[in-house]
Amino acid sequence: MADTPPRGLADVVAASTALSDIDGQQGRLFYRGYDIHDIAGRISFEECVHLLQRGSLPTSQELEGIVDELAADRDLGPTAESLLPYVVGSGTPMEALRTLVSALSVDDPDASDPSLDADRRKATRLVAQMPVLVARYEAERSGRSVPDPDPGLGIAGNFLLQISGKQPSPREAEIFDDCLVLHADHTMNASTFTARVIAATLSDIHSAITGAMGALRGPLHGGANEAVMKTLQSIEGGPEAVDTFVRAELDAGRKLMGFGHRVYKTEDPRATHLRRMSEELAAISGDSRFYEMSRRMEQTVLESKGLYPNVDFFAASVYHSLGIPTDLFTPVFAISRMSGWTAHVIEQHEDNRLIRPDSEYTGPRDQRWVAIDER
Ligand code: COA
Repeated sequence: MADTPPRGLADVVAASTALSDIDGQQGRLFYRGYDIHDIAGRISFEECVHLLQRGSLPTSQELEGIVDELAADRDLGPTAESLLPYVVGSGTPMEALRTLVSALSVDDPDASDPSLDADRRKATRLVAQMPVLVARYEAERSGRSVPDPDPGLGIAGNFLLQISGKQPSPREAEIFDDCLVLHADHTMNASTFTARVIAATLSDIHSAITGAMGALRGPLHGGANEAVMKTLQSIEGGPEAVDTFVRAELDAGRKLMGFGHRVYKTEDPRATHLRRMSEELAAISGDSRFYEMSRRMEQTVLESKGLYPNVDFFAASVYHSLGIPTDLFTPVFAISRMSGWTAHVIEQHEDNRLIRPDSEYTGPRDQRWVAIDER
């Protein structure tokens, strides 16, 4: 008989990976051995994609190469384009985008090629397509057209341009670029594990990513950033109102979104950077309301429950300050995490074995069949 598994597979090592590593006690995160504190603010998202998908920080020439590939790979193809009007009208953006990501495979030139080289091409293409998909979704529902990408801007700047129709300031583009780097990969989180399980059946990368999108959507995972913003917007009043809200939620046994983490027992290192960005953007805009509320909330939650903010907490006020609509916060997470998901699919396919754990049976035994009219 199998041993009783830890609930939620806590502390179970479910895969080997050379992509990222967390020290939960010290609050440290590494991408391929690079400390996030060392690379955040110093590498662009494009360099990060190269690091994760291709194994090393790029030389200038390699960076030029991947930037050109990403620029050439933005086209969504006619199937996703034609589905847009149907999926925009109903459901949440994450439901629509999950469907659209799945549809990208229809027109992908490598769709039926299961080789690793084709995986790598599809991985780059998916990273290039995801921000365009979100921008196209936003334009479709607001009846606008998407501005052409600016060749002088990277993925981050072009996304801000295409989502708002306005040229972002250089500092805004830089800050958003840093956000993309900070969210790119995070060991065996639920969506990455989902992607690896699907990939391990030797299914295709689009199927793995579609599953990952479904997992990311949940409020216990990537959906938390949107929930944080809604919480901040729902609290009326000054700092005391924040304290009252936090205490009422905790007394009622409800979870506060954006706090706590399965692996980090101290501050999430990504939150350290996002807190700073939130403060800077508040200063730039002259509106520090959500930053101040967030600071107060983190202090009260730490005092009351001993919980630290996770990546989603300060990401909310940062994205809000950047003018991103609240219901696109989780899609924005997906734009970044696409780099990690796809790198994990490649890694899984490079050295594959079916992921098929056992389960602990908790139902009745020795049941006897009786005919339907005797039940
Ligand atoms: N607010 C209030 N209490 C929380 C909490 C939160 N955000 N996160 C954890 N806790 C409490 C639980 O209520 C539980 O308390 P108890 O032992 O008194 O019952 C304890 O901490 C353990 O929580 P649990 O849900 O079992 O931890 P986990 O490791 O399974 O969950 C998360 C990790 C991230 C899912 C959890 O912290 C959470 O739900 N956070 C909010 C959602 C979120 O921000 N998700 C994004 C993660 S990056």
